[in-house]
Amino acid sequence: MALIALLAGDGIGPEVTAEARRVLEVLDLGLTFEEAPVGGAAYRAAGHPLPPETLDLARRADAILFGAVGDPAFDMLERAFRPEQAILGLRKELGLFANLRPARLFAGLEDASALKPEIARRIDLVIVRELTGDVYFGEKGRRTTTEGLREGNDLMRYDENEVARIARVGFETARTRRSILLSVDKANVLETSQLWRDVVVEVSAGYPDVTLSHMYVDNAAMQMVRDPGQFDVIVTGNLFGDILSDQASMCAGSIGMLPSAALDSAGKGLFEPIHGSAPDIAGQGKANPCAAILSAAMMLRHSLAMPERADRIEAAVAAAIAGGARTGDLGGTLSTTAMADAVLAGL
Ligand code: NAI
Ligand code: MG
Repeated sequence: MALIALLAGDGIGPEVTAEARRVLEVLDLGLTFEEAPVGGAAYRAAGHPLPPETLDLARRADAILFGAVGDPAFDMLERAFRPEQAILGLRKELGLFANLRPARLFAGLEDASALKPEIARRIDLVIVRELTGDVYFGEKGRRTTTEGLREGNDLMRYDENEVARIARVGFETARTRRSILLSVDKANVLETSQLWRDVVVEVSAGYPDVTLSHMYVDNAAMQMVRDPGQFDVIVTGNLFGDILSDQASMCAGSIGMLPSAALDSAGKGLFEPIHGSAPDIAGQGKANPCAAILSAAMMLRHSLAMPERADRIEAAVAAAIAGGARTGDLGGTLSTTAMADAVLAGL
């Protein structure tokens, strides 16, 4: 019997993970759920965004279903105590370096996409984002210069092993799809990106069946809007992947539709919507639960070896969307629970 750590977190996190859990329970998969506080909720309860008990549960569990963290009430806390440190800490402590972020347009969502319908329909890509390095985890500092100016710095760094292992995930992912891999960097300006490009090219020798190309991140952002249909798998660093995946979400209709998996080298993972805690709509029953439900499907596929159940959930979401079910972010009026009901109807 698989143990699922349910870390709901803040804002809309508890609202959307409750619906994902409901979907999993209906499928009667023999999962055991254990909950623990994380983020601002954990800071309130235990004085720390990632309490030792929560980290312990995450380590013990077979998989982690995560909501979102972030609470404006804690924006003035020093960085170590901010809710967002919980998700960064989980990724780092558990070695969850490989972030898979699929983006496709569910039929019927053309009107919700920021793109023209005929262009939007072509989006079907996976962003493979490195998750435990880059400027998020490099040395950070604040100081006052001799001229009396306040200064901040964040070190962007990668070593070759970190690049090589995420590159391999990129190539492996491409192999399961159309075998086209795009590596996104800023090698015209950044040393880290030049290393990145060198190592990706070296790793490509082991994948002669995958077509590799490179693009600067600014061009990639432009191309994503011009014609996302040109992309199959994109492998990139932590910062660029963060930004490009939010952008991809609007091409695919809404940030409320995009799930993600964060995997370690053994396939254990944390599964979460790509969105945050959405304080502007929290507690109002307005959040779209599809990203969380689709994250649960990714959990079944990647960590629990139940790919056919994952397919069923994804098909049920597609059927609900095709049948016209829409939360506010998709231009509709359904509540979080009613949207999940529409998905459940398809199961
Ligand atoms: P956000 O993703 O929470 O919200 C951005 C916009 O999208 C908001 O207008 C929100 O209402 C909307 N939105 C997000 N998810 C939605 C859903 N499921 N259904 C309908 N609308 C949805 O990003 P924002 O506002 O930049 O950040 C809010 C907080 O979340 C911050 O504290 C941030 O640090 C945190 N955050 C946490 C993440 C995580 O836990 N992994 C990821 C991103 C942000
Ligand atoms: Mg983000």
